[in-house]
Amino acid sequence: MKKIAVLTSGGDAPGMNAAVRAVTRGALAKGWAVMGVRNGYAGLLADHFDPLQARDVGGIIQSGGTVLGSARCPEFAQPPGRAKALSNLSNRGIEALVVIGGNGSQSGSASLAREGFPAVGVPSTIDNDLYGNDVSIGCDTAINVTLEAVDRLRTTASSHQRAFAVETMGRNCGYIALMAGIAGGAEVIALPEQEMQPAEVAERLRAAYQRGKTHALAVIAEGAKCGVHELMQYYGAHRRSIGFDLRVTRLGHVVRGGIPSAADRVLATRLGAAAVDTLAAGKHGVLVGIIRGEALVTPLAEITGRMRPADASLLELARVMAM
Ligand code: F6P
Repeated sequence: MKKIAVLTSGGDAPGMNAAVRAVTRGALAKGWAVMGVRNGYAGLLADHFDPLQARDVGGIIQSGGTVLGSARCPEFAQPPGRAKALSNLSNRGIEALVVIGGNGSQSGSASLAREGFPAVGVPSTIDNDLYGNDVSIGCDTAINVTLEAVDRLRTTASSHQRAFAVETMGRNCGYIALMAGIAGGAEVIALPEQEMQPAEVAERLRAAYQRGKTHALAVIAEGAKCGVHELMQYYGAHRRSIGFDLRVTRLGHVVRGGIPSAADRVLATRLGAAAVDTLAAGKHGVLVGIIRGEALVTPLAEITGRMRPADASLLELARVMAM
């Protein structure tokens, strides 16, 4: 192996930069040249590459987002788009590609692998919904950002005897909401993985006051069937009978931004280096992931089209703890 490229794709995630650094320095240490692709698959199509040296990835381990840029690129899903990308890679003498990203991005790396180009995936998404790894880069930071919001809302909720519903990101996976809800002692956690009606959310919040609590917090995953929109509609129609004040905070992209946690930086460093080691061992067409503490590989063909749901059985634990 003489030359590889690395890209970040899809929604940015805190820790992506630490992964770019690890891939770059890991590859340079093996004597390979490294090219950074700008703006994900869009940069592959636009032939937008820059060489990366050790100093180019200095001072980025602590920064959120991605210095390479990211994009969602529907053209890459079409055969002519991929053909263009493959010809750009070949013209530059690039022998392998490391793709740092989530589900959609790894479908892209799986397509490249299917078409015979050596690709290795590094799981990076705040949603933690990728099959083939226990925890993806960015989700620890996203949980902590959500938790900070929950903790802050709790103080004002208690002062005013109000209920708060906090909506956090996660697309169709409730992992961030579940972890932040348990860590924040939420009275209700609503996930896409388990259906809950708005009436039940309202009833659980009311029951919290009846048990003598001065606050009631619901953490709602953005993909939950009972989302904040449905909850507020129900609340609007039953305001009088519910008997308490409910406010909604939607965290949106705040959850995805900012400084990566230590756990995300370490995870990204391990996974970036493992991706390079995988290529050095002659393996590709795989996702490297931490499974039960160990860096292991799963064929990209096995992970595409699959989703790793949050463990909804933990909801019962959360319910008991909110007594
Ligand atoms: O996949 C990461 C994520 O932040 C999801 O949690 C969210 O649903 C989505 O991306 C938002 O996408 P965009 O930034 O394109 O609006």
